Amino acid sequence: MTTSPQTAGVRLPAHLPHPFSPAGRADPGPAYRWLRAHDPVHYDPFSRMWWLTSHADCAAALRADGLSAAAGQRERARSDALPPSMLTTDPPEHQRLRAPGQSLLGPAAIRALADVLGADVDALVDGLAPRADGVEDVGAPFATAVFGRLFQLPRADWATFAALARAASVNLDPLAGPAVAMAGRAAMGELSRFLTAHARTVTEGPLARLGADTRLTERERTGILGLAVVGGWQPLAEAVGNALYWLLPRPDAVALLREGDADDARLLVQELLRLEAPIPFTARVARAQVALPGGTVPRGGRVLIIIGAANRDPAVFERPDELVPGRAANPQLAFGAGTHFCLAAQLVRVCLELLLTRLVRRHPSLSLAQPSGELDWDPRPLPRRLLGCPVTTGSADVH
Ligand code: HEM
Repeated sequence: MTTSPQTAGVRLPAHLPHPFSPAGRADPGPAYRWLRAHDPVHYDPFSRMWWLTSHADCAAALRADGLSAAAGQRERARSDALPPSMLTTDPPEHQRLRAPGQSLLGPAAIRALADVLGADVDALVDGLAPRADGVEDVGAPFATAVFGRLFQLPRADWATFAALARAASVNLDPLAGPAVAMAGRAAMGELSRFLTAHARTVTEGPLARLGADTRLTERERTGILGLAVVGGWQPLAEAVGNALYWLLPRPDAVALLREGDADDARLLVQELLRLEAPIPFTARVARAQVALPGGTVPRGGRVLIIIGAANRDPAVFERPDELVPGRAANPQLAFGAGTHFCLAAQLVRVCLELLLTRLVRRHPSLSLAQPSGELDWDPRPLPRRLLGCPVTTGSADVH
């Protein structure tokens, strides 16, 4: 184990733009590669955080008892309109809030959701215009359908829900300025009121079971729903654009998805999530000195676990910057790991497999309308998302 590099003051070479600088945000990859190779547990003086870029360090940090998610999330908390959620609490309180979430996102809920979502996905892909946007016209309505079904929202409320979810999603951006943060707080309040009022009307199904759970107060219940929306709606929508960015330029991968079996789709979705994790990092604070494989974080140290860098670590992934459709061993960290592992990971995977498979089966010539190298990434670091993902179905007569 190496010692803390903070005093050593390892600096990024001048030719590599800082990943949070305007030049570095669109493509933080080169800086992450350098850090992973030269200083995997790196003290970044700009953010005053310890940056972890190797898979071994990120995976260990996500599971480390000494690193507090509660304190880490407070670093960027923008909302006092919601009570503490499972993501902003540490064990043992965390489990009290997480366990009831299973009734909403666990295996029974996934089975029920997959049954009804199929028809929504078919309607979505059948209605796709010959030229469309992979996020606005596919990802966003898909995410809305997933939540609409999950939360048992009446169809008439889906558009209102989508607008609220979009507005509240600004809370994801840890670098948002004061005006955006204030708007995010207001949106969160509005979303919470909407979800509370809706939950009171539901008498059966997963949402009602969550409502009947005596381990939670109504405010805590709303907190779980609100966290799911802020942590899930936009990442799910963007995951679609990010996936199409890698998938569509690869006819072999598209063919595998179109003609292959459920296992092929499962491996491919894992690989697409690895390449462009919509949540590229998360934060923690060290309650005590924490020893990681690549270095030590001192007590009180603020830690940035860079999932996007870990997922491209050549020590774990052969050809890390390439789409490898049948990659069998794929310990990607797009959903985190350990105590706070995404409660909806399985649900997200199942829904993405369903959408992408039906999309390429219905539109066999679907392709990017521009070369992928010409598409722009959002300069905001979180979520990792394309500014636009124009696609063409390749047949003006489809419908
Ligand atoms: C592609 C889409 C998604 C990605 C990439 C993603 C990723 C993540 C990650 C990385 C974490 C861990 C954060 C941390 O350790 O600090 C997390 C936690 C969580 N996610 Fe997701 N997520 C996605 C979609 C969703 C959806 C759709 C929902 C709900 C319907 C959801 C619900 C949650 C919850 C409740 C937690 C907190 C778990 C806990 O603290 O115990 N996520 N997610």
